[in-house]
Amino acid sequence: NTKAVILVGGPSRGTRFRPLSLDVPKPLFDVAGHPIVWHCLTAIAKVPSIQEVVMIGYYDESVFRDFIKDASHEFPNLPIKYLREYEALGTAGGLYHFRDAILKGRPERIFVLNSDVCCSFPLNEMAELFDNKDAEAVILGTRVSDDAAPNFGCIVSDSHSRRVLHYVEKPEGHISNLINCGVYLFSVDAIFPSIKTAIKRRTDRPRLVSYPSSENLESSFMADDDDEKKEVLRLEQDILSDLADSKQFFVYETKDFWRQIKTAGSAVPANALYLQKAWQSGSEELAKPSPNLIAPVFIHPTATVDPTAKLGPNVSIGPRAVIDAGARVKETIVLEDSHIKHDACVLYSIVGWNSTVGAWARVEGTPTPVTSHTTSIIKNGVKVQSITILGKETKVNDEVRVQNCICLPFKELKRDVSNEVIM
Ligand code: GDD
Ligand code: GTP
Repeated sequence: NTKAVILVGGPSRGTRFRPLSLDVPKPLFDVAGHPIVWHCLTAIAKVPSIQEVVMIGYYDESVFRDFIKDASHEFPNLPIKYLREYEALGTAGGLYHFRDAILKGRPERIFVLNSDVCCSFPLNEMAELFDNKDAEAVILGTRVSDDAAPNFGCIVSDSHSRRVLHYVEKPEGHISNLINCGVYLFSVDAIFPSIKTAIKRRTDRPRLVSYPSSENLESSFMADDDDEKKEVLRLEQDILSDLADSKQFFVYETKDFWRQIKTAGSAVPANALYLQKAWQSGSEELAKPSPNLIAPVFIHPTATVDPTAKLGPNVSIGPRAVIDAGARVKETIVLEDSHIKHDACVLYSIVGWNSTVGAWARVEGTPTPVTSHTTSIIKNGVKVQSITILGKETKVNDEVRVQNCICLPFKELKRDVSNEVIM
């Protein structure tokens, strides 16, 4: 008997996902034809023992209403509900606040998933390790480069027993390149008492230092200073290192793909990875390959694609989008109601809702290497992310070239631009 909790965050997060999160909450942004959080749900639906899914966040109640309605049709055996925090309570604060609802029906264990990661979610494998080790907690881990590791929670484990020996959230220096993927399985009898202990410790000995918010750990031109609340409880800082002391905390290391979805540009590799996964599993949803269609490609049934346009690989075309003759689209997400006119070329980009790319225009970004795991757009004052993003209702005029740009909504691009943020 198991439940799953998805941490969806709220409107003050996801600032690095602008300009796309200006129009849709990040968890509902479509990659590979489905909202980001839908990919979590499909993985959860494959775990037979899961009786309920609880989404916890501080978005308005109305935000997930339609999504939950649609998902309930698609996953009829999986009751899904959304519980709203009155303010950001932190990754463990929400769990604790809603403990009565979560514990209803007496689940023995709970999966907890960050909604902003893209991976194959090997939940059944984690459950198997949990059973084999008689664990109190299992964390999903993956190896990244030494450079990237300190951007994440770092795990020191015993390679033989897979026991977690130490856990440090975003360490100052190098500790390990095995990192926290943001997916956990906890025994109910371990996690809630641990949170309680953390709360008690906090009340007994008020903190001297406040945690930096992950959103402003690195400077980002889009990041807000979100005021850190004193009451927030974080799974990562307040709970996981305690669990490591308990000795019944294990890590399941995935060799499969894993990526964080923080910046808007990271939706492009996430889209590619989920499309490839769907392709490998023989998904019926994808377009049939042909000389002008290099798999994997997702085309929404309501989109119109001219047969002389060449699409793929790793392209998603949204509802009612129109792609005209001779256009070339590759490694790109084209969102609802957009129009790519004839002979335009769109590479490594996201074309926002209702945008138009003119005839013979060229909109392109530069691919980020798969190993980079960049979490910010600007590093040391230099723009590092180079996926081109056109916000909602952008108009790129005919024959204009847009290269490595982020364009805020409602702009008309009349001249060639490169390496700019167009505000
Ligand atoms: N409900 C709710 N309430 N959700 C929250 C809150 C909150 O107050 N704060 C964050 N979340 C959600 C976010 O939407 C996201 O899905 C997840 O919790 C983690 O977000 P962050 O707190 O911003 O952490 P992070 O992404 O920088 O780092 C975490 O994930 C990494 C993997 O992607 C940590 O767990 C790292 O250790 C880990 O490596
Ligand atoms: P193959 O890779 O051999 O199938 O050829 P391709 O022309 O599709 O090239 P590729 O997939 O590598 O990448 C797309 C390339 O198409 C870009 O680098 C552009 O040079 C080129 N291109 C630019 N504009 C257009 C256009 O309007 N139509 C088409 N079909 N291609 C364009």
